Amino acid sequence: MDAAAVQVDNLVKSYGAHPAVRGLSLRVERGELLALLGPNGAGKTTTIEICEGFRRADSGQVRVLGLDPIADARALRPRVGVMLQEGVGAYTGARTSELLRLFASYAANPLDTDELLARVGLQDSARQQVRRLSGGQKQRLSLALALVGRPELVFLDEPTAGMDPHARRATWDLIRELRRDGVSVVLTTHHLDEAEQLADRVTVVDSGQVVAAGTPAELTSSGAEGQIRFRAAAGLRLDSLQVALPVGAQASEPQRGQYLVVGEINPQLLATLTAWCAAQGVLAEQLSVERRSLEDVFLELTGRQLRT
Ligand SMILES: Nc1ncnc2c1ncn2[C@@H]1O[C@H](COP(=O)(O)OP(=O)(O)O)[C@@H](O)[C@H]1O
Ligand SMILES: [Mg+2]
Repeated sequence: MDAAAVQVDNLVKSYGAHPAVRGLSLRVERGELLALLGPNGAGKTTTIEICEGFRRADSGQVRVLGLDPIADARALRPRVGVMLQEGVGAYTGARTSELLRLFASYAANPLDTDELLARVGLQDSARQQVRRLSGGQKQRLSLALALVGRPELVFLDEPTAGMDPHARRATWDLIRELRRDGVSVVLTTHHLDEAEQLADRVTVVDSGQVVAAGTPAELTSSGAEGQIRFRAAAGLRLDSLQVALPVGAQASEPQRGQYLVVGEINPQLLATLTAWCAAQGVLAEQLSVERRSLEDVFLELTGRQLRT
């Protein structure tokens, strides 16, 4: 049987006294796209740089295509594509197409470099020096460099950072094509929509730890679940509201004066809530019925916004 694309068990990594990854585990099946979702500083880059073999773990186990990223680096290099967060900054003197052809020359069976340049929208920049490319263009070149060797597995660290909306859509399409071709993909992002749009599974990380994992639908309980949000005076008697609500619905006050009822949202639940408010003399303001998003899940899990 094939090993998993990536298997990380109890990974720990500190920079000096500063813990960056604190006992993180995750698994990516072959052909699956995993989004590693978390705010800046969560430990995403550290985790994938260890998987790429660029950093050594303090402890824990990492297997990439069944191999050790450092000890088996030579065997892994032709099979794994890497898009670094810092991009192509080191190669400022080279021209776009030269750099891509150089990377292609390392691969046994590379993609056609002109075609690939066109697919990432850089055909008109082929003769430009890399240092003259815009931030978004450098990102797209970096993506092309990761893909040119037809890898079985790609690591994409914030692949759409710095891209305009059009380039971002095009990049999403390219990533979807990879998945359709059976390539395993690990991407990091702090964009919830990116994770929801692309990922088979999402691992939510915060402060170097996994705080939730599952499919986007599982994480947002997108079946019949949703939420009602409203504002009112702080400190409402939630125990009394909870008794009034149907079984399965959950009331909370995530921030002072802001209330949340999570559960199967139907007219009955809304009527029960507003009747309780009326009985308590509470005016619920800005009441809204919403589908739960990953943003909501993240806020509940960590008490923080993904992007501050
Ligand atoms: N080379 C480094 N030296 C010291 N601290 C670092 C280094 N790289 C990252 N860190 C710290 O480790 C933590 C995790 O960083 P990182 O893995 O880059 O997170 P993310 O990619 O999720 O933003 C952060 O607090 C960051 O400041
Ligand atoms: Mg990062």
